[in-house]
Amino acid sequence: MKKVVVLHGVNLNMFGQRDPVQYGTTNLNEINKQIKKLAQELALEVECFQTNHEGEMVDRIHQTHQEKKDAVVINAGAWTHYSYAILDALGILKIPIVEIHMSHVHSREKFRHISVFASLTQGQISGFGVNSYLLGLRAVNQILQESE
Ligand code: DQA
Repeated sequence: MKKVVVLHGVNLNMFGQRDPVQYGTTNLNEINKQIKKLAQELALEVECFQTNHEGEMVDRIHQTHQEKKDAVVINAGAWTHYSYAILDALGILKIPIVEIHMSHVHSREKFRHISVFASLTQGQISGFGVNSYLLGLRAVNQILQESE
């Protein structure tokens, strides 16, 4: 079974309570349940992790490397737009990385149009709410199948 890590960054524990116009009303627990349900259907092993601390996210990415996981789906929240520390950590990984966002970042403020991770990711999925995570999981699943 392929092992996928879903990483949620800063402020994403507040989904369900923050800006429902951008992020809907589903909380992170519910999102993780939907991710796990789809992972079962796709026969993937999935782990979900959230932190508000950049160093903890970097540590978790290092752990992903040590544990030889097969792929990453990441919503790094605002870190996406400026964190070179997370960029460097992701750069250690030699596995597919798909970036996702609940909101449509390209239709929002200019600073959200930039992803400092873009060169390391297979692609970005943005604007589909909770479904962005599910599409991200389907994307890594397909990439893993094609690489077999
Ligand atoms: C987000 C978009 C980011 O710009 C923002 O800082 C977030 C959430 C999203 O899921 O739409 O915190 O990553």
